[in-house]
Amino acid sequence: MAMLTRRTLMKGALVAGAYAGGMSLAGQLGKPASAKAATTLLTRRTDALITDKGPTRAAMTYGDAEVPPVLRMRRGLPFALRLENGLDEPTTVHWHGLRIDNRMDGVPFLTQPYVYGGDGFDYAFTPPDAGTFWYHPHCNTLEQMGRGLAGVIVVEDPTDPVFDAEIVLNLRDWRLGGDGQFIAQFKPRDAARAGTFGTVRTANWRQTPQYDAPAGGLVRLRIAATDVTRILTLNVDGAEALVIAADGNPTADRFKLDHLMIGPGQRLDLALRMPDSEGAVAALMDLRGTKPATLVTFRATGASLKRNLQDLPALAANPLSEPDLSAATEIPFILSASAEERPKDGICGSLGYNFWAINKVPWADDSGDPTAPLAEMKAGRTYIFNVENPTPQVHPLHLHGLVFKPMNSNKQAFRPHFSDTYLILPDEKVQLALVADNPGDWVFHCHIIEHQKTGMTSYVRVT
Ligand code: C2O
Ligand code: CU
Repeated sequence: MAMLTRRTLMKGALVAGAYAGGMSLAGQLGKPASAKAATTLLTRRTDALITDKGPTRAAMTYGDAEVPPVLRMRRGLPFALRLENGLDEPTTVHWHGLRIDNRMDGVPFLTQPYVYGGDGFDYAFTPPDAGTFWYHPHCNTLEQMGRGLAGVIVVEDPTDPVFDAEIVLNLRDWRLGGDGQFIAQFKPRDAARAGTFGTVRTANWRQTPQYDAPAGGLVRLRIAATDVTRILTLNVDGAEALVIAADGNPTADRFKLDHLMIGPGQRLDLALRMPDSEGAVAALMDLRGTKPATLVTFRATGASLKRNLQDLPALAANPLSEPDLSAATEIPFILSASAEERPKDGICGSLGYNFWAINKVPWADDSGDPTAPLAEMKAGRTYIFNVENPTPQVHPLHLHGLVFKPMNSNKQAFRPHFSDTYLILPDEKVQLALVADNPGDWVFHCHIIEHQKTGMTSYVRVT
């Protein structure tokens, strides 16, 4: 690749912005969906323009552009994509939140073989739900995701309300040193605690990018928290924002965004009402850290469209099965610390430690020996996962292939809502109710990748 200059960096940022959103949804709907033609997605090393220190070398990306593309699909239409692995190590693609055929789930050993460097794999499925999802590898995950492999999926539905603009935000950090180059992805003592934090924060691989959107217009923000570690407390300054969907599913009613916590793996769809005066700027903030961080800014352009958030039609619900609580079987899942030594030579990226376990079993999904499923479920039946977190850390727990409805937490109050990733607080006990309506072996793990890779992984079987 030619040496990238600051000038091409700025152009790249604009192109990424235009691709990631900024154009009207109507414009996007006019284009043929990628659902019919098989496309190719190449994993490869790249130089990335993340800091002002020049290119960060040996980042990893998907596709031809620097930043992994937003993959657009249509609900109920077949989607096909060939993964080509241009890396010198095995990889796979997991489609986080999509309820698809188990053979397409992208978990080595459990659902598919490794895709070695130079090899490919054909993924084909029909997404049943509309919403915001994401994709990432499930092999050497800390390294591969830490270096860039994570992209956003938008599943469109023809009945989606039309916004004046749509902006897709892939929020993540990078572990870079003062010279802008990668440093060690983790520190063992942090892996045994909250995880090792990145040093540089980005949206769509840019530090505090600014997007233009029509003054007084309604913008759909599709936010994916793709970092390997960081939990965010999101707020919008300078504009009104309503939560319209979370983790791919529309919320039962819309509510004002107010210090909402989301963890790695989670998504949030916001309806942002841009300020009326041209040039006014709104900001997406993370208020969780010791000092507030501005993640993205939005600048109002043109004469005000004078839209009203109240006029926005509701999103259509996805076709999910309602749990039958009268006939549910309860299954315990207890999170804990664990201290067993383990070999460091797993080729799927063992970190060499067991710090965590689920039901006392530390499985790190990086060896060819996945132990036994922690639970077996009968297809079509309702189950309740009784999850307890006696650890001092927050864990974003993600279940593949199925969705659950959190209920009865001793720590959090929530509206009924289907999700695939639940952020469990220290000392929390929660019930996750689900219908086991998708057969296969489904991984259930913490999405703080250091926790996942040091034992906080399990899987359940639906037959
Ligand atoms: Cu987002 Cu097991 O994955
Ligand atoms: Cu965790």
